[in-house]
Amino acid sequence: MKIGFLGAGSLARSLGALGARCGHDVRFGVRRLRADGFVVSAREAAAFGDIFILASPYSSLAEALPPLRRALAGKIVIDATNPVGPDWAPLPLDPRQSAAEGVAQDLPDCRLVKAFNTIFADSMRWEDLNENGRRISTFIAADDVRAAYAVAGFAEGLGFDPLVAGPLTHARYLEAMAHLNIALMAQKTVNTRAALHVDRGGD
Ligand SMILES: NC(=O)c1ccc[n+]([C@@H]2O[C@H](COP(=O)([O-])OP(=O)(O)OC[C@H]3O[C@@H](n4cnc5c(N)ncnc54)[C@H](OP(=O)(O)O)[C@@H]3O)[C@@H](O)[C@H]2O)c1
Repeated sequence: MKIGFLGAGSLARSLGALGARCGHDVRFGVRRLRADGFVVSAREAAAFGDIFILASPYSSLAEALPPLRRALAGKIVIDATNPVGPDWAPLPLDPRQSAAEGVAQDLPDCRLVKAFNTIFADSMRWEDLNENGRRISTFIAADDVRAAYAVAGFAEGLGFDPLVAGPLTHARYLEAMAHLNIALMAQKTVNTRAALHVDRGGD
């Protein structure tokens, strides 16, 4: 598959490296182009991807998304962002909706899925996920059930344990989980190799 990213930072590079190891074709969409064959403009990355992953700061989305709307129409877009400020604290949002539901309003024609936001980039290591038997859950929230399961298949292929968690409104819970992870990391209770795994309780 072709995977486009918005951003080329920690999360995009970690997920992109996993994707490339799985045989996916990856492009990173950035603001300032540089000499790197995998780096293109955000618009080119959006047009390129079968799946497009939002991996830039939440605060960048209001400006970054509107120009991509047409290129992303009908495509699966994964919102992996967390609405945090530079100090890692949660940004105040409308209490009636998650960041992802705001993205859905900015990109009304795409198939929006919330996923990967609860996983630290540093824990996305190919060896751990695919050779050392580490199971990391990725929670998936979307109103488009087929898109949710397509992302589950993609995540499973990368080595994650996907868990479809319900409609896009449940992105509120996924974002709250990420806030907890980040708070635990900020107070040094865990480091950025920490990860969540849900024991489903057997058969
Ligand atoms: N890192 C993690 O462990 C982790 C885990 C889960 C979720 N997330 C979420 O993933 C997102 C990215 O986090 P990160 O840690 O990867 O951040 P990062 O390392 O700071 O990278 C951010 C990337 O976004 C790019 N960017 C900023 N504004 C942009 C715009 N308007 N258009 C295109 N690209 C833009 C930056 O490019 P420039 O160099 O041009 O600024 C940079 O490549 C955040 O929303 C974060 O909450 C991160």
